[in-house]
Amino acid sequence: SALLAVHRHLRAGNIALIGFMGSGKSTVGRALSGLFGLAFAETDAMIEEAAGMPIPEIFSRFGEAHFRELESRCIAQAAAMSGAVISCGGGAVLRPENVDALRKNSLLVLLTASPETILARTQADTSRPLLSGKKTAADIENLLAARQSAYENAAGITIDTDGKSVYQICEEIVLSAAGLAG
Ligand code: S3P
Repeated sequence: SALLAVHRHLRAGNIALIGFMGSGKSTVGRALSGLFGLAFAETDAMIEEAAGMPIPEIFSRFGEAHFRELESRCIAQAAAMSGAVISCGGGAVLRPENVDALRKNSLLVLLTASPETILARTQADTSRPLLSGKKTAADIENLLAARQSAYENAAGITIDTDGKSVYQICEEIVLSAAGLAG
């Protein structure tokens, strides 16, 4: 079955969720790890724990470049896991070294959503420095356009999340991943 094929893959490898802020990586990752009874790692949470402060404070005190250094270290740690679902920060695949590290042992699953959906999901949120002041779908679209090729180049499979439930998205990931596993 598809579940068994993916489960077999996950005994050795990981599923790494990538994509823009608000594409559903954390929510879907948590659900997917629950379905399989697997470990769940979130690179943003690892960064906050390593730095001992929330992400907005890392950005405001030390700048984005420092955040990206911490992020690369946490990606390397997460990439070395096996049998885990890894939710990667939205900017994690902007560095080729991060993509290379993840590819060694993980299937990279790109989650996508329309700018309108992303706006709706992130509107009330104050924990994402790169979205502060970005209050229209056009703002989101510009950021998205700048990253589109990085996301697409990194992706092993791509799942659109617009209008779908968490479990529909999990099901599509499983079926798509099972197709790859054969
Ligand atoms: C970022 C996305 C965030 C977090 C940081 C930077 C980005 O993660 O890593 O605010 O550059 O897209 P989420 O995608 O989980 O929001």
